[in-house]
Amino acid sequence: MKPILVEQLAPSILAADFAYLGDHVQAVDQAGCGRIHVDVMDGHFVPNLSMGPLVVDALRPVTQKPLEVHLMVTEPEKFLELFAKAGSDTIIFHQEVVQDPRSLIEKIRERGLKVGMAINPGTDVSVLEPFLAHLDLALCMTVWPGFGGQAFIPESIPRLEKLSKLIADSNPTCELEVDGGIDTRSIRQCFDAGATVFVAGTAIFHKSITPAEKIKLLLEC
Ligand code: DX5
Ligand code: ZN
Repeated sequence: MKPILVEQLAPSILAADFAYLGDHVQAVDQAGCGRIHVDVMDGHFVPNLSMGPLVVDALRPVTQKPLEVHLMVTEPEKFLELFAKAGSDTIIFHQEVVQDPRSLIEKIRERGLKVGMAINPGTDVSVLEPFLAHLDLALCMTVWPGFGGQAFIPESIPRLEKLSKLIADSNPTCELEVDGGIDTRSIRQCFDAGATVFVAGTAIFHKSITPAEKIKLLLEC
């Protein structure tokens, strides 16, 4: 069985204890995780609020790992400059809110950042096809965005298989990321379906045991 590597994990700080955010980020950094996933919610695209550029700015000196910003907002373009200045490495926007993805991709690149495009569970994966050649990452949501701690949607597996084939055909360097409900069971199912990067919030930051111990469990599956 091919191992899932710790570098392929993207801990989502949404599930961290915000009173100890810097400590938690350092813990997953030292455990070897490849990047830090920052969930930004605007109360419009999703029915919840979370964090903004100030958090990226505060975390920038805490870790050398890439800070990946997942914009669950209806107007991603409006916030690009702020997140770029705060020290983000990657901007992920949702396909569902953008009329002209090529132009937004260019604007993100002009700022020297990597680009990801996300789709909700209800969006056909084929909408990403025309853009894959221009992306660093395709994010397939495996829960409806808005909250951590939800159950993985099993129908995501055939979607991942399809998207993985599209990526192999048009841009094999594009990463295929999954986000939502990733745990010791679903991580392996997603890996087998072609996912290459695994966002995990609750599975890493749940308070019962330390993030480093949780990471070990995820990789043992
Ligand atoms: C959901 C967010 C996720 C979330 C994942 O809207 O995009 O990144 O934090 O959390 P878990 O791993 O708890 O499902
Ligand atoms: Zn996310």
